[in-house]
Amino acid sequence: MDGSDDARDLADLLGLPQALPRRTPEVSPLLQTPPSVGPAPPSPMRWPALNSPESVPASGVSSSMADWPGVDEPAARRATAPGPTVVAVFSPKGGVGKTTVSIMLGAVLARRGRMANGGQVRVCLVDLDLFGDVGARLGKAVPTVLDLVRGHPSITPEDVERHLVEERSSGLRVLLAPVTPDAVNAAVLTPSVYRRIVETLSAWHDVVILDCGTELTDPVLTSYAIPSADRVLFVVNNEAATLAAARKALALMADKPMSVPMGRISLVLNQRADEVGIGDTDVLRSLPRVRRIAARFPDDRRLFVGSANQGRPILTSTDPVVRQGIADLVAAAVPDIHLVDLDVIVPAPAPKPLLARILARAAAHALRPS
Ligand SMILES: Nc1ncnc2c1ncn2[C@@H]1O[C@H](COP(=O)(O)OP(=O)(O)O)[C@@H](O)[C@H]1O
Ligand SMILES: [Mg+2]
Repeated sequence: MDGSDDARDLADLLGLPQALPRRTPEVSPLLQTPPSVGPAPPSPMRWPALNSPESVPASGVSSSMADWPGVDEPAARRATAPGPTVVAVFSPKGGVGKTTVSIMLGAVLARRGRMANGGQVRVCLVDLDLFGDVGARLGKAVPTVLDLVRGHPSITPEDVERHLVEERSSGLRVLLAPVTPDAVNAAVLTPSVYRRIVETLSAWHDVVILDCGTELTDPVLTSYAIPSADRVLFVVNNEAATLAAARKALALMADKPMSVPMGRISLVLNQRADEVGIGDTDVLRSLPRVRRIAARFPDDRRLFVGSANQGRPILTSTDPVVRQGIADLVAAAVPDIHLVDLDVIVPAPAPKPLLARILARAAAHALRPS
């Protein structure tokens, strides 16, 4: 078999009409700055004054539910107010950036998002992936959703509130995945349990983000998260295997029983690498159900892995392409929310021994008498 046969096979796999060239000497559309996705005009970096609203107090953002507008609102007003936007972040492929995108979206919204009335956005991230690692990214291990469900069968708002952890630099609140992802624990975490938790969170949040696993055989995804979400952020990278899996997943999602309207799905192209043989047009041609790429993030291990290793979510970047990606991501997920001060770069603290802290906390939790 010669090289053109290989290329033809790849094109077949992706459903492309023609064989892909072995190398695509394509100039990145990001460098060409098309009007719809071009980076915002560069603006000077601003540094927040110590006591500006951008500065998070040393004690962190208050974690008391009573401090969150909405909790004390009269029931009648709450009942008429629209519920929160539920955003599921999904991909049938692991390692493409679902958790990265979930944390970045949540942290940016919590820190820089404003509602139409100017109020801060109350945002919660729920790690729906049994093998989820949101905690490991943020240097937190406990409490987890399992502590919530095991100890509090009625799942009241107060129960849920006590089991959220807070990421201090942004104020993002998170419900962590279990420390031990075994079958016994999985059996407790049913679609209706998660539905109940998210409905409960709705009482005092504007946005709930669901960081999903990869398996479309998981009932938590197929009977709850994906069909119920207001918006599904579907994350891919420009790799053939990811796009082949994405095609199949999109077909399953469109069909019964999930029946997700395609208009509810936004494509996020993450880890976008140049000159790897698959450009943006190829991505769209391989996913005919999707009309456009809603947001793009470059393959930048220094930025993304570096931020994960420091346990600090990305809140913006000096790279205008990443800033544009963040703005596009928010516009795709929650169009009614606007961002402020995306050009404010907060200096990163010295790296902390994140791994040591996570392992210590997980070990302490595992040894705790039940
Ligand atoms: N745009 C990016 N550029 C480079 N590395 C990235 C990017 N996005 C995510 N990563 C890294 O890729 C790995 C997988 O990301 P993750 O968010 O855990 O994927 P998933 O949740 O889909 O399994 C992590 O090491 C993460 O830091
Ligand atoms: Mg993940």
